[in-house]
Amino acid sequence: MVYCVGFLCIIKKIKEVRISFMRMVDIIEKKRDGHALNKEEIAWVISEYTNNNIPDYQMSALLMAIYFVDMTDEEITHLTLAMAHSGEVMDLSSVAGTKVDKHSTGGVGDTTTLILAPLVASVGVPVAKMSGRGLGYTGGTLDKLEAIPGFKIEVTDTEFVEMVNESKVAVIGQSGDLAPADKKLYALRDVTGTVSSIPLIASSIMSKKIAAGADAIVLDVTTGDGAFMKNLTDARRLAHMMVRIGALANRQTMAVISDMSQPLGEAIGNSLEVVEAIETLQGNGPADLTEMCMVLGSQMVVLAKKAESLEEARALLSGALASGKALEKFREMIRNQGGDDSVVDHPEVLLTARYEVTLPAKQSGIIQKMVANDLGIAAMMLGAGRKTKEDAIDYAVGIKLHKKVGDAVQEGDTLLTIYSNQQDIKDVIERIEQSITIGKSGEEPVLIHEMITE
Ligand code: URA
Ligand code: CA
Repeated sequence: MVYCVGFLCIIKKIKEVRISFMRMVDIIEKKRDGHALNKEEIAWVISEYTNNNIPDYQMSALLMAIYFVDMTDEEITHLTLAMAHSGEVMDLSSVAGTKVDKHSTGGVGDTTTLILAPLVASVGVPVAKMSGRGLGYTGGTLDKLEAIPGFKIEVTDTEFVEMVNESKVAVIGQSGDLAPADKKLYALRDVTGTVSSIPLIASSIMSKKIAAGADAIVLDVTTGDGAFMKNLTDARRLAHMMVRIGALANRQTMAVISDMSQPLGEAIGNSLEVVEAIETLQGNGPADLTEMCMVLGSQMVVLAKKAESLEEARALLSGALASGKALEKFREMIRNQGGDDSVVDHPEVLLTARYEVTLPAKQSGIIQKMVANDLGIAAMMLGAGRKTKEDAIDYAVGIKLHKKVGDAVQEGDTLLTIYSNQQDIKDVIERIEQSITIGKSGEEPVLIHEMITE
């Protein structure tokens, strides 16, 4: 509803006339010719596109111009904030304490959220987390959680806030109206060859994080074959950009650049990753996954001011793993969200795949490569992921690695186990075999490349 009386009405009319004078074609040409768009132009584009007043063909042209011309820091910030405010912005002010969110730019076998959310909550940091689903070769936290029988990822805003206030933790699906501009833009980018633009990725991720309402944000920017950012230079630029946007939006933000050339941990696939999360919360997880959780978790604890230094934070988290407090928090989170918490004591009940096939090493040597995206694609072919948004997921299937990059193997050693519900998996095995390189020598893999703060 619009109230306008006399003089105010005239001012409003003048404004409307001025705004309606903006033309999308002028904005496309301005960007195409290498100029920076101003705040009003960006706000107008986002608002008009979200309201279906700009057709996809014009928006596609602008996205492609942005892809080639790039954007200044000011433009990216205006774009992010316009997208963040294109729909509902979560109000978490009724949750006590500094709310910390964590976001990964995507990977294969990335089980960290399942572990981090209860781990960090168990030392008193409120974790109000909205997660996403997997698409293509990358897995999604929501799909993994739904591998737990009964687990509910759709809750009302009120239930969400209540859970976080009472238990310090809830991991749910993104609410329908959060950053609708991003939803439309992402779908368009997906089919116009404009996904891999750093300003567009930065604004897409940060708009959702800002709309989700956390006070502080820890970003895990992955790099390598299994990540959006294939090299360290691009990962660094994306990380710096997102940290700067976070600061300008008044959210304490830091980024960790981590390696995603091989999968994280040993499990790839939904139920397998739930089992892996439980083992890690019991203190028996894979070394790289455990370390990743300690690094990201310590940053979250410090941002939430529950510890003064990263060392102190790490000690708190190690204590919570050793005492079983973190595992108990996971049990509580499952119960709160309607899931069957007996899986915590009997995770093996989730592993129901009909066939288990092991893959032996074809030669002796050191493992030089286990290419993350190929293994992610292999898991997807088994049914662990979606080719299109509508595909159903088979929770039970996936791959469990017994060896990782840097390990020495003898010919015939078991490299991995494939969990399948199909008998004929020739194509999958072929894909997996392509992804693994064994050579005479090898280097220790790097887990964390850099930490980036303001
Ligand atoms: N993840 C997002 O949410 N958006 C992107 O553009 C890329 C990764
Ligand atoms: Ca994993």
